[in-house]
Amino acid sequence: MRRQMVREVLAQGRADSETELFGWVRTARHSKSLSFLELVDGSCMAGLQVVVEPSLPGYEGIRSLRTGCALRVSGRLVDSPGKSQSVELHAKDVELIGDVDDDYPLQKKRHSFEFLRTLGHLRFRTNTLGAVIRVRNSAAQAIHRFFQDRGFLWLHSPIITALDAEGAGEMFRVSTLDAGSPPRNDSGEVDFSQDFFGGETLLTVSGQLEAEIGALSMGNVYTFGPTFRAENSNTSRHLAEFWMVEPEMAFCDLDGDAELAEDFLKCVIRSILEDCPEDMAFFQQRIDEGLMERLDRVVSAPFERLTYTEAVEILEGSGRDFEFPVKWGVDLQSEHERYLTEEHVGRPVVVTDYPIDIKAFYMFRNDDERTVRAMDVLVPGVGEIVGGSQREHRLEVLRERLRHHGLSEERYGWYLDLRRYGSVPHAGFGLGFERLVQFVTGMANIRDVIPFPRVPGNAEF
Ligand code: 4AD
Ligand code: MG
Repeated sequence: MRRQMVREVLAQGRADSETELFGWVRTARHSKSLSFLELVDGSCMAGLQVVVEPSLPGYEGIRSLRTGCALRVSGRLVDSPGKSQSVELHAKDVELIGDVDDDYPLQKKRHSFEFLRTLGHLRFRTNTLGAVIRVRNSAAQAIHRFFQDRGFLWLHSPIITALDAEGAGEMFRVSTLDAGSPPRNDSGEVDFSQDFFGGETLLTVSGQLEAEIGALSMGNVYTFGPTFRAENSNTSRHLAEFWMVEPEMAFCDLDGDAELAEDFLKCVIRSILEDCPEDMAFFQQRIDEGLMERLDRVVSAPFERLTYTEAVEILEGSGRDFEFPVKWGVDLQSEHERYLTEEHVGRPVVVTDYPIDIKAFYMFRNDDERTVRAMDVLVPGVGEIVGGSQREHRLEVLRERLRHHGLSEERYGWYLDLRRYGSVPHAGFGLGFERLVQFVTGMANIRDVIPFPRVPGNAEF
């Protein structure tokens, strides 16, 4: 008999057929005349109700089954009298595959997400984390589908790199040198020429620069992989290791980039709503009661567009007493972003044309020489979910920008080459994958939407 999953059985709901399932007991109720086991296997939120009659051989053993036990169950599917499910399984054979110790920490009661983070090896068995894992999977599929349908090529950008793609210096070093006594050169500095790659190497903060290489040969590409930031941000929206999706398009400007970001977010959210109705209903009921309404507004209405300068005027005129005061030239803080998207507009907002001094070296400089063709997409509850820009494709301006940022022309030599050999206007953006999952599920803390969070002071599991 082919092994079936609970999701399939409940969806098909075919009574009077024989089946065999494997899974874990979520709850067990034993009465004098019957035992009810709720069997879950990760394939969906709901469990399958398994009914065991005392006449079954070995019934005494079944009476001791409890939450967490791993089982093989076979029997006949019958229409369920309960209205919460289509079918239930009348057991003909129940085999205990893995028993559970008395101190199993996931008893049927609510645990805090903080506590569950200390149980990284077990927390996917809870309703919430299980739903997160399924929605994450669905989101990743939707992202690939979106780009594949539009002819973008998936480019596998490297994880180990020698370049700081954001020029912000927040990188983890990769080295096989002896940390206790590394080789040193004549000036006493660590001699990375003796390191594994013959030079200093780091974990990537973004695949953008490689995506630019891709776009300038292949037209439209995207990356989708892990990125790393050694910033000491202990917030509900920052991880030291997170996944980023970075499309890059040749012959494209910032307007085209913003259009793609809007289509992309709408399409991916629609797809998750269709693909995971049960999990999404759970998030709406248990995590965030405003969730569905917010997501509906995102997919049905156009995103608002504001320049940074307009955004600052709105914030200054808001009468709000922000913790970080606003004036032209400062970077927008989370409280400002959230005011704009949650209160001023009530929908996603694309903010464009930021001051040149607060943005990365690679962004296209506007004629005013004070701003760059950058954009951030801000969404309610999360703030910045996407950051992108049109890239500086003019050799002389890019040289000037590198100099201004104290970055060496030699190091960024190949990046400059791309501006000498058939340079074209191009643009792209980065979506923080966990911020998307946070937005779609309403989960308050980003540590609960990634299987194994890495944050300052913690890389367990
Ligand atoms: O705005 P960022 O830093 O932009 C870039 O890295 C560009 N190279 C992207 C591009 O144009 N190709 O990061 C992009 C997005 C942010 O908008 C945010 O959603 C997410 O990545 N992000 C983080 N997510 C979780 N933890 C962190 N520490 C993050 N830092 C950025
Ligand atoms: Mg950003």
